[in-house]
Amino acid sequence: MGTSILSQQPVRILITGSNGLLGQNLISLLSEIESVHLIVTAKHRPSFELGRGEFHVLDITQKNQVEQVVAKTMPEVIINAAAMTQVDQCELDHDGCKCANVDAVEHLVQSASVHNVHLVHVSTDFVFDGTQELLDESAVPNPVNYYGKCKWESEKIVRDSNISWCIIRTVLVYGVTAAMSRSNIVLWVKKSLEEGRNIKVVSDQWRTPTLAEDLAGACYQAALRRASGIFHVSGKDYLSVYQIALRVADFFKLDKTLITPTESSNFVQPARRPLKTGFKIDKARKELGFEPHSFEEGLRILSEK
Ligand SMILES: NC(=O)c1ccc[n+]([C@@H]2O[C@H](COP(=O)([O-])OP(=O)(O)OC[C@H]3O[C@@H](n4cnc5c(N)ncnc54)[C@H](OP(=O)(O)O)[C@@H]3O)[C@@H](O)[C@H]2O)c1
Repeated sequence: MGTSILSQQPVRILITGSNGLLGQNLISLLSEIESVHLIVTAKHRPSFELGRGEFHVLDITQKNQVEQVVAKTMPEVIINAAAMTQVDQCELDHDGCKCANVDAVEHLVQSASVHNVHLVHVSTDFVFDGTQELLDESAVPNPVNYYGKCKWESEKIVRDSNISWCIIRTVLVYGVTAAMSRSNIVLWVKKSLEEGRNIKVVSDQWRTPTLAEDLAGACYQAALRRASGIFHVSGKDYLSVYQIALRVADFFKLDKTLITPTESSNFVQPARRPLKTGFKIDKARKELGFEPHSFEEGLRILSEK
């Protein structure tokens, strides 16, 4: 049990990338918890109401800014929810991807080391090559695109450091928040079908889609417990992307005849995608008390927001 559970002082948690899907879900969760002092950071001040917590501008690629904000706010835990996440953009802009997804993590690690901060770093199923399904934490990474390579590099920086750390790898995150900067599979399928558009969806890529609220909950538990090591955190339903689309259509009572299955080889995209991933989540269940919603429950939660 972490000392913060017993201590009377609120635990000081700093979130990077607070305008993103995970970041916003972390704000919603943590601003409801009185025993947390929330330090919200992002490249730009958010357009939505923050609620409890203090806000600081922080571009994690700026080493001096990282050090200044950490020194000033004195967090006990940093949850790194910031990343360049568009996989094709990462393939087209190697420098930008490395800067945000590798070098910036080095800056966070250095400041965490100086100020004795526990780092919860978020990574991805794209560190794997897609030849194995339902991977546990002992599976060996072998990324097939530049985004995956950079996230794997960032993991090694964290793992080989002298700080207190954990890495939460996750899979195909979906959800809805007040100010969405980018879409996700569920919102894209829903919107396309609502607009009566035909869509082609891959039937040979398999994932365990993750509700953003569930991921935020796991990050919070990892922060609270000062969890150590790598954790696989995802939903519990193993579905092809085509099956995901069909389930979205069913749930929202939309026309699933608009959805055509196709194969990855029919798509010309800058970045290769791993075919099969999906996670075994036993370790997160045991050590973080993680219990994700089913995909249908996740859709219900999303639809009620
Ligand atoms: N979404 C998925 O399906 C998925 C799957 C596996 C793993 N993950 C991992 O989960 C984590 C959270 O991703 P997400 O889904 O919340 O992605 P997201 O919605 O794209 O959020 C990422 C946030 O990071 C911010 N950011 C980028 N560069 C930054 C910088 N230099 N300084 C500060 N903030 C910066 C982005 O701001 P701007 O938009 O203004 O650049 C954005 O708000 C990431 O580590 C990602 O690799 C995501």
